Amino acid sequence: MSSQPAQYTATLPRPPSLDKGAGSESATTGDEELASLDDSSETTPFSAPVPLPAYLQQTYWWAYLHPASVRIFERQWLVNLILWGNFARLRDLALDEIGPSIPGAVLQVACVYGNFTERLVERLEPTGRLDVVDVAPVQLENLKEKLNGATRIGVHHQDSTNLHFADASYDCVVVFFLLHEQPEDVRAQTIAQALRVVKPGGKVVFVDYHRPDRTNPFRYVMVPILTTLEPFAMDLWRKDIAEWLPDGGRSMTVAKETYFGGLYQKVVVTRQEQA
Ligand SMILES: C[S@@+](CC[C@H](N)C(=O)[O-])C[C@H]1O[C@@H](n2cnc3c(N)ncnc32)[C@H](O)[C@@H]1O
Repeated sequence: MSSQPAQYTATLPRPPSLDKGAGSESATTGDEELASLDDSSETTPFSAPVPLPAYLQQTYWWAYLHPASVRIFERQWLVNLILWGNFARLRDLALDEIGPSIPGAVLQVACVYGNFTERLVERLEPTGRLDVVDVAPVQLENLKEKLNGATRIGVHHQDSTNLHFADASYDCVVVFFLLHEQPEDVRAQTIAQALRVVKPGGKVVFVDYHRPDRTNPFRYVMVPILTTLEPFAMDLWRKDIAEWLPDGGRSMTVAKETYFGGLYQKVVVTRQEQA
């Protein structure tokens, strides 16, 4: 998937205050190096701009694009509260899946408020390397500040539906609470891209929302919250992530586990080694 569907380039009305923030920066910036902490990773050369996706501008501008969003949401206690006290557990489930220590190349698709990336970096061995992509420049700038000059980390301004990395270039790809924010067609492209860039034998680790068990009271609490604030999230209550795998999930194995009465899931997709 190498081209951007037209819908992502739509110019949408947004709060005037965004015009001085991430939105205007992104609209004019096509240079991925804008965001690089360390530009030694191999990316495909390109010069196309990276527009902000329509759903991000319409639905999530207040959470990720507004200049004040980082100031408000970049608090460990708040991200933990948003996940009903489960942030550290879910973070560590994802990180443990990558490994207790990481000798290879990892790609994190989309920044995360809280200390997810810092904890990932702590696990890198001297041979290990992390690349992080995000479509919102303000989030990449925030990540660079959090990483405070750490080495062997590439920070890239890219869209998850159009990754500029070579096929089979990562040992592991992690996608933490991104899929529920994306419309279904975008989500399918993100999943396909994550699987394209992972090596045969490598894993893509997804952690996200899931349909809670019938006996879980959060089931009733979360319906109004998600339908109001995160309209695409309910897709993950209706369908398994495996249903969006490219090629019907052939040559992949899928392992799913749920947590907190089913409200959250970890899905690990392993690309089979080539015969
Ligand atoms: C990973 S998700 C949410 C994670 C979690 N809720 C948190 O606390 O941050 C949020 C990030 O995804 C990014 N994002 C959304 N759509 C994207 C896309 N198509 N490509 C790359 N990054 C994207 C947003 O800019 C934002 O930084």
